Amino acid sequence: MHTPMSEVIEPLVMLIREHLQNEVDCPVRPVLSPEQMRAQIDLDIHDEGLPLGDVVNLLRQVLEATPTTASGSFFNQLFAGRDGAAVLGDALASLLNNSMYTFKVGGVQVLIEMALLDRMGRMMGFTESEGIFTPGGSLSNFCAMMMARNEAVPDAHDNGLRDERLRVYSSQDSHYSIRKAATMTGIGRNNVVSIAVDNRGRMVPAALETAIQADLDAGYLPTMINATTGTTVLGAFDPLDAIADIAEKYGIWMHTDAAYGGSMCFHPEFDEHFAGIGRSDSITWDAHKIMGVPLICSALIVRKKGLLTKHFDEKATYLFQDDSENFNPGTRSIQCGRRNDGLKLWSAWKSHGNTGYQKRMERLRHLTLFARDIVVNHPDLNLAIEPESLNLGFTVNGVASDELCTLLHEKQRVMVGHAQVQGQLVVRVVFVNPEVTEANIQSFFEACLNP
Ligand SMILES: Cc1ncc(COP(=O)(O)O)c(C=O)c1O
Repeated sequence: MHTPMSEVIEPLVMLIREHLQNEVDCPVRPVLSPEQMRAQIDLDIHDEGLPLGDVVNLLRQVLEATPTTASGSFFNQLFAGRDGAAVLGDALASLLNNSMYTFKVGGVQVLIEMALLDRMGRMMGFTESEGIFTPGGSLSNFCAMMMARNEAVPDAHDNGLRDERLRVYSSQDSHYSIRKAATMTGIGRNNVVSIAVDNRGRMVPAALETAIQADLDAGYLPTMINATTGTTVLGAFDPLDAIADIAEKYGIWMHTDAAYGGSMCFHPEFDEHFAGIGRSDSITWDAHKIMGVPLICSALIVRKKGLLTKHFDEKATYLFQDDSENFNPGTRSIQCGRRNDGLKLWSAWKSHGNTGYQKRMERLRHLTLFARDIVVNHPDLNLAIEPESLNLGFTVNGVASDELCTLLHEKQRVMVGHAQVQGQLVVRVVFVNPEVTEANIQSFFEACLNP
């Protein structure tokens, strides 16, 4: 038994319309405990199925209870907002339901994905790269580390690690997925060496080199350097050329985690931060962050064609059959069945073009600086650090940042998070939704000042 698609088109359109209105009427949902939510909505699964109308009513309740991430009051994460063209592509990907392992099953979707990855590679300064979409920036980082490990210890691919003592270098402000990846690759998270950052949150190359030399002296095998292009809390950019010099000097795999900041390459004023990125061996770039594409849309791109196949291909004659391997992306992936994450990005990019994305990044930067000026000019607001890109850290006199964030949420004013910046707990607000207006930002600070 199944529900015919023809019967859900009308309810789908209705739910979308209602939700868009509801988002305007109630931009921050009431804060309910899990118990309260369970009491409000019948979440359990029962033996008997329900008529479609009842399911639609339940879904309506679920939509109303779900935190909104597309309103002008959501500043909590490195993604926000909604792009219609991207949602359209994503909805169609669900409708089509291809799996992206073979050309036979993915067809033109494989070519779309390849066109995107090729374009993204060229924008990162690669000339003959290849890439793959993964289930997120964390997993892209993991795949990169796995390749780095196998390049450093060629036998590891077949026989695993023995008694090698591998080391990974990453700045103290880098994303926690690097430590996770070290655990999952068998390197061990204690072997991620935390490299100091300067007062703008950028990795200090001299500290990196010192750490590598000390490890070499102690008999470790330096395996991967992770540079971050857009750190999670500060939005800072590590100096890639200087890091690449060190990676080349010591023959270490250089990965650039541009999950967050990669999309700033559309903004000409950020060109200097990308100098040297093309010298990376691998790059993570998430389109689901500031390109406004629905989660998940993460690209892992490698400088040399063939590297992904070398490290991820497995023989499976029941799957990889007729087509030329090059058109079977499954041979380059950690996954077997893989969702089509490319179509939503392709729809959005086709709709905006590079010019549209440049304008989007310029708008986001403008909003950040607009907010920065409000902080600097208000006696009760304190700027923690000058914004490197789209992140702003600040404190409010007389209230702890974590308490403030909780209060703002409970009172349904705005959603925003807090973070540690140079030993200080600050409100971390990020401007990643171009639909946010200057008025929204003013209301945001009014709420912060009068929670
Ligand atoms: C710098 C950086 N790298 C990696 C990630 C992980 O990305 P994802 O959430 O797609 O796993 C994040 C997430 O915020 C990030 O900020």
